[in-house]
Amino acid sequence: MAHPAASSRLLVTGIGELVTNDPQPGREGGALGIVRDAALLAEDGVITWIGPSAEAPDVELAGDAPHPHHVEVLDAGGRAVIPGFVDSHTHLVFGGDRADEFAARMAGRAYEAGGIRSTVAATRAASDDELRARLAGFVAELHRQGTTTFEVKSGYGLSVRDEERLVRLAREVTDEVTFLGAHVVPFEFREPDGPGADAYVDVVVGEMLAACAPHARWVDAFCERGAFFAAQSRRVLEAGAAAGLGVRVHGNQLGEGDGVRLAVELDAASVDHCTYLADEDVAALAGSRTVATLLPGVEFSTRQPYPDARRLIDAGVTVALASDCNPGSSFTSSLPFCIAVAVRDMGMTPAEALWASTAGGAAALRRTDVGTLRPGSRADLVLLDAPSHVHLAYRPGVPLIAETWKDGARVA
Ligand code: NIG
Ligand code: FE
Repeated sequence: MAHPAASSRLLVTGIGELVTNDPQPGREGGALGIVRDAALLAEDGVITWIGPSAEAPDVELAGDAPHPHHVEVLDAGGRAVIPGFVDSHTHLVFGGDRADEFAARMAGRAYEAGGIRSTVAATRAASDDELRARLAGFVAELHRQGTTTFEVKSGYGLSVRDEERLVRLAREVTDEVTFLGAHVVPFEFREPDGPGADAYVDVVVGEMLAACAPHARWVDAFCERGAFFAAQSRRVLEAGAAAGLGVRVHGNQLGEGDGVRLAVELDAASVDHCTYLADEDVAALAGSRTVATLLPGVEFSTRQPYPDARRLIDAGVTVALASDCNPGSSFTSSLPFCIAVAVRDMGMTPAEALWASTAGGAAALRRTDVGTLRPGSRADLVLLDAPSHVHLAYRPGVPLIAETWKDGARVA
């Protein structure tokens, strides 16, 4: 005999400020759609009701007795609740670290994309279990910092065997896996001793893509001086799209270039970095569905100028914030840190920065089930130890994430 499925309910009451990212008449905060003195009900991991705390449903009476159900009641005590952060850009499967390179940069050395190759060597040397354990540690770290949805890229394997390993391991922890075989040209292909970048791209679009595509949702290419030219990036992205993957691009990180325009032309979900933009890049983004994802952790730890979020937002471009967590250019997994920097140095308001790291990240992943709190969306939410989302930027460096809930269950 079939048993009725056990249901679970989560009721959060006493929310002083509920950020929904679902603006409606009577709500405050523009795009944040803020409800004051709010409550929220989730059933089986999905939000089913949002309203005034005084009108919160009685979850005991709402039960379908005699069917079993598990009820959690959380009193926010007047604190703020926000959607879980959506980190649309990380590189979390790797071996080793590059603390020495960071220290050298802080002593004046410039950042170069070539540092990626030292992480490739450490990653190839690590076993699956070592990479898996490291990844599990990062997932716990993300949850502690309020991130409930995250993308993970490959790109530190750069051989068929190693890239397949990285996307397969990433897929164990997230649905949002990106194949980044076109991160840099690995040393064994580099001229003058190796066969060269085009021969490496042949492998990426052939055997490597075939091995990785079954584990991935996205394809990405690093279209930049020192990595891949536009024509090479295009080959990789078009091959990935033909294999059924969505397109995302690393572009315009170290200087102006073709990355943004290529991304727009290919209807990429997102083009990431966007640090050096010509007016025509901004115009192309404004007329497109492609999100500009800004990664302030990179400029922080490479001492480059921050991207100009204000210029993009004023032009009508959809902007996301993500961590780019990786051992070379940005070894932070903290979106609260990125928000604080974006507000201080990139011309964003606290509201814009919060939206960009929740709903913006969801847009960059073309997801509608996360990044907002409304009936039908996932119960992925963060209780702040603060009365307002503004404190995320106002109190930089202070651990304000009190509790993180994903699919209606507490994860940190
Ligand atoms: O997104 N831009 C290219 N890739 C990474 C850097 C990786 C590294 O330095 O190891 C990034 O910044
Ligand atoms: Fe990156």
